[in-house]
Amino acid sequence: MFTLPQKDSGTPTTSLGSVSQQGLHSNHGDGLEGECSRKPDQKPLKLYGVGDPTAMFSSDSPYLSSRGSVIKWFWDSAEEGYRTYHMDEYDEDKNPSGIINLGTSENKLCFDLLSRRLSQSDMLRVEPSLLQYPDWRGHLFLREEVARFLSFYCRSPTPLKPENVVVLNGCASLFSALATILCEAGEAFLIPAPYYGAITQHVYLYGNVRLVCVYLDSEVTGLETRPFQLTVEKLEMALEGANSEGVKVKGLILINPQNPLGDVYSPGELQEYLEFAKRHELHVMVDEVYMLSVFEESVGYHSVLSLERLPDPQRTHVMWATSKVGSWLALGVLGEDFGMSGLRFGTLYTENQDVATAVSSLCRYHGLSGLVQYQMAQLLRDRDWINQVYLPENHARLKAAHIYVSEELRALGIPFLSRGAGFFIWVDLRKYLPAATFEEEMLLWRRFLDNKVLLSFGQAFECKEPGWFRLVFSDKTHRLRLELPLLLIPNQSDLAVTVLGDDGALNGGCNGDKL
Ligand SMILES: Cc1ncc(COP(=O)(O)O)c(C=O)c1O
Repeated sequence: MFTLPQKDSGTPTTSLGSVSQQGLHSNHGDGLEGECSRKPDQKPLKLYGVGDPTAMFSSDSPYLSSRGSVIKWFWDSAEEGYRTYHMDEYDEDKNPSGIINLGTSENKLCFDLLSRRLSQSDMLRVEPSLLQYPDWRGHLFLREEVARFLSFYCRSPTPLKPENVVVLNGCASLFSALATILCEAGEAFLIPAPYYGAITQHVYLYGNVRLVCVYLDSEVTGLETRPFQLTVEKLEMALEGANSEGVKVKGLILINPQNPLGDVYSPGELQEYLEFAKRHELHVMVDEVYMLSVFEESVGYHSVLSLERLPDPQRTHVMWATSKVGSWLALGVLGEDFGMSGLRFGTLYTENQDVATAVSSLCRYHGLSGLVQYQMAQLLRDRDWINQVYLPENHARLKAAHIYVSEELRALGIPFLSRGAGFFIWVDLRKYLPAATFEEEMLLWRRFLDNKVLLSFGQAFECKEPGWFRLVFSDKTHRLRLELPLLLIPNQSDLAVTVLGDDGALNGGCNGDKL
């Protein structure tokens, strides 16, 4: 079988025992101001975990190589909900009793605007250069447009350069490419958890790279100001732990705004994380796919490219894609990203020419067709349409959906965490688990699916506290209306609500406070 040169898989220890509902009720909720109450420092037993993606692997195929078997197994085991959904997709007219997807992080609010714009005559150009083999980095006209676009929306202190841009078919490919070119097989990247779980596959399937989770928990301790807060101390401990297990860490992955938390790092935090990486000669891959998805006015978003000085520019690599959607009020620009996950467009910005060239070399397998490159350039350059048509409308729709879902959750007494960025809400359903285990979390997830609602459960994000779910709200409200009442099912029917005292950390009496 496809084995890893690894030591102990470092099965993580959950910090569940120290979690307190008190800490949860008192945080910002929805990005609004709030006092965080604290508990005295209580260190969980283990703050990191070295991932072993194939720990449960059990399905060798006589037709596939060992590597092929592992790759197939990932598909079989990880995509169950998604595949079930595709076999029974909800459709107002054709399948009104189908599954409603609140699990996939996509924006379905603006297809009408996008399809109108992409159908206009200036979008179709067929000329020889677009039909021939391209520069694998991407056509120069597109890389120039991307550099201008990112300079403007990232507010870079100096104009970004087209030679530092590589375009390819989405951020998933970019993770895969970066893992392959930066690491030897079996080496690892640090990543704060919970995190967008598909990255485990992205870095492993081709690159055989593992992730070292830096576990964050919901309790606010010490100098922290919010639940699930990333600190340099936690990064240092995880790195030290991985080193002590003989695991070579080559980089740090930061997602900003974070998926699934919606967290946005301040410039000060970003600077600290980057300095940490520089001290240890780690690459930093900053995934900013949600950078234009900050819809709460009070949240100030800062791209890493807006920093005056990058501590280690040769090891800092920024990723952006058009698959996500949002608004950019923080810039004073009513702007939004593009909800086009099916178009498959992603881009890397790096000053390191070795990295840019190596990724470009892999673009032979991950490149974009010339026609799509042309469309993308047309779209990115149409600032009037972006700023005056698409962005304001998309923003209004996104905001309305978010308000609707948060109010529903509040009315249902379900605590949640939403910091005004991304298009998901991190929902605390721990009170619905008869026992605080991942088995119970999975049972609850299945119960939603049986009731035709697809959610994402916390373990898929490597969350160490069973009972958290990610709910995607960026869909038409008539669909949200259909599914939210279903959230009541476990509450009001046969699921026992566990009520423990202070010492047991869970309280059944959620009163609608948000996380
Ligand atoms: C944080 C993050 N990065 C990357 C991706 C994948 O992006 P793409 O569709 O461009 O491959 C996603 C998709 O949800 C995501 O949430």
